[in-house]
Amino acid sequence: MRISIVVPTYNEKENVDELMSRIDKVLNGLDYEIVVVDDNSPDGTAERVAELSVRYPIKLIRREGKQGLISAVFEGINSSGGEHVVIMDADLQHPPEVIRELLKVVDSCDLAVASRYVKGGGVEGFPFVRRVISLGATYLARILIPQARKVRDPLSGFFLVRREVIKDVKPAMSRGYKVLLEVLASRKGLKVCEVPYVFRSRLKGESKLGWREILNYVKQLLLLMPDYYKFAVVGITGVLVNLGLMTLLEYLFTIPHIVASAVGIEASLTNNFIWNDVWTFRNRKGGSRLKKYLKYHLSTLVGNASQYLTSQLIYYLLLRESVISQTTGIIVGFIANYLISSKYVWSYNPHLDARHP
Ligand code: GDD
Ligand code: MN
Repeated sequence: MRISIVVPTYNEKENVDELMSRIDKVLNGLDYEIVVVDDNSPDGTAERVAELSVRYPIKLIRREGKQGLISAVFEGINSSGGEHVVIMDADLQHPPEVIRELLKVVDSCDLAVASRYVKGGGVEGFPFVRRVISLGATYLARILIPQARKVRDPLSGFFLVRREVIKDVKPAMSRGYKVLLEVLASRKGLKVCEVPYVFRSRLKGESKLGWREILNYVKQLLLLMPDYYKFAVVGITGVLVNLGLMTLLEYLFTIPHIVASAVGIEASLTNNFIWNDVWTFRNRKGGSRLKKYLKYHLSTLVGNASQYLTSQLIYYLLLRESVISQTTGIIVGFIANYLISSKYVWSYNPHLDARHP
């Protein structure tokens, strides 16, 4: 089979008739199937789709309850058979005629995205506030997920992808809306084409996008960010914990800098360890927590010792200002870590390395 159209539905009874007839018109003569994944819509969408399946090549998957858009789409993909897979909504905001344009370009790329934000594309009837939110969310994705930068509309819910590209994708989220982000983040070097389309306003039924989806979106970004971004963010929280706790101890409880500085450093280490363990490296199984906690101390020992020493020297010999002392210490510790890494761990080898540092 050539093409599978995967359509998630929740309360779209009034839209499915027109959807099927328009898809059929576009793909007339081609070998295709429509896979509808319905989450037990109370309005009777599944019953209507079952009736339509007499007329069109529809495969209907009925699930127990509302389990979320991403999981519906992946369930549809897994039980479809086409060489090319189109993902689209049922509510006609994604005009089926655009599938024709997607098919035209897909031979020269892995993924063809129907895009609102390339020339010729757009949104119809979005109030100003929604437009701003949509653009803001789009930019956020492109900042936090490097693979999303090659797409103008990485949040589009309408795209065509080759099966071999999508078949091994394991989504980080099951609830949540942004299927394309999961595909983009799953691997580097995907070749993406974009085709303009106008996101129509909904004529029938209502959008299921609410606050919960906005929270899910933030959670999805936090999961899909690359490890080194997560590590850097954790490092920044560590600096805040370090300086915050130290200041509190010194100014509120008049604890001397020689103690408060050490407590601040240890608190930041523990903070960083916890977040890196539950977030940055949450997929790395194995090893006891305690052992990793000790290893983390060991691996940052020189950096932390130089941080502490610098902070103490500046404070007791130069100026009695703890935040400045500690901050300078943090910078020195960072540099020490860098030097050790570049001189010792990734040392320069004149016979092997091309350029002199
Ligand atoms: N099976 C299932 N389960 N389907 C669902 C669920 C669910 O939990 N939630 C929503 N759907 C279906 C809807 O019936 C519709 O066909 C489609 O998913 C999209 O839902 P809408 O509520 O209409 O979303 P939207 O219009 O606000 O946003 C869509 O378009 C944007 C632009 O392309 C989504 O696809 C966004 O992700 C996309 O950015
Ligand atoms: Mn919609």
